[in-house]
Amino acid sequence: MKAVAVNPEKREVGVIDHPAPEISLSTEIKFRTLEVGICGTDREICRFDYGNPPNGFNHLVLGHEGLGVVTEVGAEVHSVKPGDLVVPTVRRPCHHDHCIPCRNDRSDFCTTGHFVERGIKEYHGFMTEYMVEQERYVCVVPPALRDVAVLMEPLTVAEKALIQIWHIQKRLHWECPVAAGLAPGHCHKAVIVGAGPIGILGAMAFKVAGFDTYVYSRSKAPNPKSELVESFGVKYISSEQVSPEELAKRLGNIDVVYEAVGGAKIAFDVLPVLGLNGIFVFTGIPGFPLPHITIDGEFIMRNMVLKNQVVLGTVNAGRDAFDNAIHDLGIFMQRWPNAVRALITGRHRLESARELLLGKANGIKNVLAFS
Ligand code: BGC
Repeated sequence: MKAVAVNPEKREVGVIDHPAPEISLSTEIKFRTLEVGICGTDREICRFDYGNPPNGFNHLVLGHEGLGVVTEVGAEVHSVKPGDLVVPTVRRPCHHDHCIPCRNDRSDFCTTGHFVERGIKEYHGFMTEYMVEQERYVCVVPPALRDVAVLMEPLTVAEKALIQIWHIQKRLHWECPVAAGLAPGHCHKAVIVGAGPIGILGAMAFKVAGFDTYVYSRSKAPNPKSELVESFGVKYISSEQVSPEELAKRLGNIDVVYEAVGGAKIAFDVLPVLGLNGIFVFTGIPGFPLPHITIDGEFIMRNMVLKNQVVLGTVNAGRDAFDNAIHDLGIFMQRWPNAVRALITGRHRLESARELLLGKANGIKNVLAFS
């Protein structure tokens, strides 16, 4: 069976022959891979900055943004049947009894660091023709979302952030007055920093949650990403044209900043303009080499205290975020089907994997299509 893998020892990336998996437990399902998205993490693994092969292997099969169709299920599988579309989650728990989050199905908050992640950390990923997975780690997706379901995993980043934002901000009586036709976040302003897939999907999720949402990103407008963002009713503002201070002047109190660029410079330029009772969410993982930047530490600390602010880092996602992603992706497709489809800027054959992983990043979301 073909698979896209990295061999960090030999510093190789490419298509390899990999043993086909078989069901060995009655709680497992087997699925045929349809599509796998490529993201910055995959590209970093291919620069050998990140990621590790499983124990006993020299290579790691890549891919954590998967979509498949079920071909076989074990005798004790009840919620998934052959023919179902499935998106698998990424992280699997550590084995330590004292890791309360892992023992409670929240490996995204693992306390030992000994979790594994499919396609990233010590566990083979989804860029292969067939996969076997435990029923509990896959989410069944409605057939109507077939075309765009590969976007689910990157959308879970925003979904997990939103779950946590509501939870943390509860301390402030942050809820908006109930108003007919308006979603719960309607009295709050959110600035999404970055216009890549995580940023654009985040902008959609915050808009659906009712937030008055803006995308703040480097490139001057108009450009293809600004046009895409504005096509679903979110204003795009370029950091080359509008400084963070001007941004805050224009928007008024910024309640949420959702960072989706993976670089600290622009994020820390925006942090000082976070508003009263604001929450700043980091989702990006800066890649090596890590350049030094200068930040206005005293000013930021003063603000954080005087304005009751929170800075939150978030990684990976639990089942709740996957469930919300399925729900929201359905809403996105009802409201903005063309914009959602336009996020997938390329579907490519396996043979192009090396170029996509190692070449210059282009488009928004590139996907490997298996059939
Ligand atoms: C993945 C997460 C993962 C993180 C760190 C991201 O690209 O989407 O699932 O936890 O990388 O490895």
